[in-house]
Order: sequence, then C-alpha cells, then structure tokens
Amino acid sequence: MPSAPSLGLPLASPPALSDEDPLDLCHEIDELRKKQDATILAHYYQEGEIQELADVAGDSLDLARAATRVSTSTIVFCGVHFMAETAKILNPQKRVLLPDLLAGCSLAESCPAPKLAEMQVRLRAEGRKFQTVTYINSSAAVKALCDWVVTSGNAEQIIRRVPDEFEILFVPDQHLGGYLQEATGRKMILWPGSCMVHEVFSVGDLLKLKRKLPQALTIAHPECPANIREHSDFIGGTQAMLRYVEKFAEPRDFLVATEANMLWQLQHKHPQHRYHPVPGVTCACNKCPHMAKNTLAKVRDCLRDGRPEITWQPSFDKAREALLRSFF
Ligand code: 13P
Ligand code: SF4
Repeated sequence: MPSAPSLGLPLASPPALSDEDPLDLCHEIDELRKKQDATILAHYYQEGEIQELADVAGDSLDLARAATRVSTSTIVFCGVHFMAETAKILNPQKRVLLPDLLAGCSLAESCPAPKLAEMQVRLRAEGRKFQTVTYINSSAAVKALCDWVVTSGNAEQIIRRVPDEFEILFVPDQHLGGYLQEATGRKMILWPGSCMVHEVFSVGDLLKLKRKLPQALTIAHPECPANIREHSDFIGGTQAMLRYVEKFAEPRDFLVATEANMLWQLQHKHPQHRYHPVPGVTCACNKCPHMAKNTLAKVRDCLRDGRPEITWQPSFDKAREALLRSFF
C-alpha cells in the first residue's frame, strides 16, 4: 500500500467491521442522510455500491459544480481529499465530510506547495513570463499559487483562455500536460508528476487485447502516458467517456484505460456494450487505493459522528479565487 498522504490532518477513525451487511449499511446511511440533512456526492472511481447510493455520481468537474447546488447543510464527499477540499472551498458555509481523511492522491502529493513556489521564483528570476495552471488534483495550497484550475472535463477550454503572451507552467500531471500540449498546440513547462493508477497500464497487454478483439475501441483517460494514448481511439475524462460510448447504439467492445470502478458506471448507464479493463503492468485491477479507503461503513460512520470534517484553512481564500475564475 502507498504511504499515507502527508496532509497534516488528524487520523480517520479505524475501519468498521467488514462483516456488516451492505444492505443494512445502506439502510442506516439512508436514515442518517435524512437526519443529518446531508447530500452524498460520489466520484466515478468509488466502488459501485457507493456510486449507487450517492445522490450524485460524477467526474471531478460535475461534482465541484454539484457541490455548489446542494440545498442540504452537509455534503458527504465520497472521493479523495482534494475533491472534498474543493467542495468546501466552493461552499464555505456548508459542513463537508470525507469518510476517510487519509484518502489522498499520488498526483496531488507529487507537487508540494513550497516546491512549486520555489520553481515559480526560479522561473521569474530567469525573466520568464508565465501563468500557472494546476489540475484539480492538487492541494488547496497549490491552487492558491495558481492562476487557473482545470479538470479533465474542461482543461482544453481553460488552456485556450491563457493569454498567448504567457508561457504555461502546468502542474502536477506531466501526462495530462503532454496531452494538452498536443491538443492545443501550447508549449508548456511540465511538472514531473503522475497518477499511480494511470501510469501503470501495460501497452503490451493493451496490444494483446486489441489483437484478441480487433473491432474493439480503446478509450483512455488523459492521465495515461503517451504510449497508451497513441493506441487509443478516444481520449477524455470520465464524463467524456460516458458521452463517447453513448453515441454507439449497436453493442460494441470497449477497452477501458482508466480506474477500474469506471466500468461500473459505464455498464450501469450503457449496458448494451461490453467493457474490458486494460490491465496494469503490476496488477490486473487498476483500482485507486486512495479512493478505496472510503467504504460503506465509513460513509455511515461519518454521517453518524459528523467527522472527519474538512475545515477552512488559510490557503482556501486564494484557492477559491482561482477556482471561481476557472469554473464559473
Ligand atoms: P475526472 O473525474 O476528471 O475524469 O478525473 C479522474 C481522476 O483521476 C480523479 O482523481
Ligand atoms: Fe489520484 Fe490517480 Fe487516484 Fe485519481 S486515480 S485520485 S489521480 S491517484
């Protein structure tokens, strides 16, 4: 297992007993959600059972926007820390709970704010004129140092809003940055971060699968490295993948290069197709261990106990400015 993210936050409560009946847990969650006046938001990389009980399941952009529209006083964010933090930044008055505070993100961890600040100082000292664009998969402290925030769902549009006279410093995902350079023609200074899930897809196994299913279409997340993207028929974020497969009325085979729980949502929304996960070099499942920290029992516990809660931090004010400029 990867090391716990260094968020400087209190530890989450220990996992609940694993022998609890999922149906009982769902029933308890329903009762508590009413009692606590809560809305449950879930990312497409959560286990199917969590996506199923959520009030809204979506990609990072949908969920950030959905968080600004909820009418309840509490949001339970089933996703990773930067997502819940974003929901809080956009909704200072709401209580935002994250079932496991240690649900981090390898990509966000790869770009600590002090290191980014150092790089910005160095580039300015060299006389470079640039704006900094961060992927939403970053801490609030990083967002506070940035001009723009992008998600996989709006990145190209936002990159096109950066005035031509500026170079772009893009953090923290070198692969998404590489893809955006190709898609927009804008040259970028890339931070060397990557997602531990998307980086390990095996190109050899993808090619084997393609030989086995020659009619299949390959869909890949832009967090995948170039060697996977170049063998793909479609590159897009999780919401864009759903829109892409929806266009095919006849049943098709899709080879899917993204986190494996996405297959649940694809199957749920478009059951006429067959979906095949592209395997990883080191494991066949490609599940995000950070997303997997949230369980039904922890959703119940956080609703019952009112914690772990995302509390307002000094960096949130500046991060909010960058988020509002970019998303609304
Ligand atoms: P999207 O939801 O924007 O496709 O992002 C994927 C991701 O890696 C979230 O951690
Ligand atoms: Fe972070 Fe990758 Fe997990 Fe997304 S899938 S939360 S980018 S580690």
